[in-house]
Amino acid sequence: MSGGQRVDWTSRPAGPLNGVVRVPGDKSVSHRAMMLGALAEGVSHIHGFLEGEDTRATAAVMQRLGVRIDALADGERVVHGVGLHGLRAATAVLDCGNAGTGMRLLTGLLAGQAFDSTLVGDESLSRRPMRRVTDPLAKMGARIDSQDGLPPLHVHGGQALRGIRYTLPVASAQVKSALLLAGLYAEGETEVIEPHPTRDYTERMLAAFGWPIEFSPGRAKLTGGHALRATDVRVPADFSSAAFFLVAGSIVPGAELRLPAVGLNPRRTGLLQALRLMGADIRVENESESGGEPVGDLVVRHAPLHGIDLPEALVPDMIDEFPALFVAAAAAEGTTVVRGAAELRVKESDRLASMAAGLQALGVRIDERPDGATIHGGPIGGGSIDSHGDHRIAMSFAVAGLIASGPIRIGDCANVATSFPGFMDLANGCGFDLGVAP
Ligand code: S3P
Repeated sequence: MSGGQRVDWTSRPAGPLNGVVRVPGDKSVSHRAMMLGALAEGVSHIHGFLEGEDTRATAAVMQRLGVRIDALADGERVVHGVGLHGLRAATAVLDCGNAGTGMRLLTGLLAGQAFDSTLVGDESLSRRPMRRVTDPLAKMGARIDSQDGLPPLHVHGGQALRGIRYTLPVASAQVKSALLLAGLYAEGETEVIEPHPTRDYTERMLAAFGWPIEFSPGRAKLTGGHALRATDVRVPADFSSAAFFLVAGSIVPGAELRLPAVGLNPRRTGLLQALRLMGADIRVENESESGGEPVGDLVVRHAPLHGIDLPEALVPDMIDEFPALFVAAAAAEGTTVVRGAAELRVKESDRLASMAAGLQALGVRIDERPDGATIHGGPIGGGSIDSHGDHRIAMSFAVAGLIASGPIRIGDCANVATSFPGFMDLANGCGFDLGVAP
């Protein structure tokens, strides 16, 4: 997917930042809309579909499984649902690219099919743990072969699944969703209990597609054997993409940015709370609801930040936002302490290690621990860092470059296209000085 040519970026000191920044559609919602649209009876329209490599990979997988998908325009998809039992065996392996969400959710979905499938991913995805989904799916009766817990995954079809009651050992929306999708095909009740509530898009969207489901924060329960009815999905702008601009707007003197119609599901907005605890000036305006999700405009103005002891309860609600938070912490006065975030070690890269190495290379003091770090705010120098092929590390250091004392060269940025195509243009449009490095 995003393999191919290596691209490095240079982010130079710049500012003030100004203007309206329209970030693309939510990745989590786009993956789920594509999968449920494919399994529904009838034609679903997806508006605001994320044109990222991750979500396009999921669309391509559904096409390989026999689903017709029309791309009408950028962000507009028409999915011709084939019904719960209408998928056909693919003639080749199914490539999930860089997407952990794609692979884990598809594993659950494919466990209930009559045919075998093989799921593969890129180099980063091939290092990510899959036992967290294959173990509970096996308890439901699924047969899945992995490479010692890693992809590729071979999912055997024709297995009779039965519902289980499963308490997740770690808070993970991906694992919860994989089990619920397998539960559509299972006999009896599938119930998932979480140690801390995680994003509930699968639950909300199953309900929107007409599947009976009971859910409340930390718990979801459904029975197999119903049908999904096609529906239209309006995808809100991705809070995780907005996060980079929330941090940039907070740390660059004179900045004022407006981010319209961003998804504000409470299970996603932990960074908003964390930044406010640090002294950020971020307002929510024009709040409304779109497709059952709260949305609003985020208006961020520069404000001096101070370090905090991050409340551990916020961690799952900002699980993708730590690279951006670490940059805010480096720019803040005083120290910021993060604990209870060991999951960061199994994301697209080991994000605790990637951020610690990058910030240290720029002269920032950071003490890394197995489940977090202490970041000492202070001047950020110029220098050269490696993104480890991780989109969120790359974009976070692009933000750091705004206030660094010299240019930051960011190695290996092609993967930004997995979640945020057009990031460079949007960033430069509001005042960044970001370019492809020679
Ligand atoms: C996601 C869940 C989170 C998150 C990922 C998207 C989802 O992963 O990090 O980017 O769409 O369900 P985990 O479930 O592994 O925490």
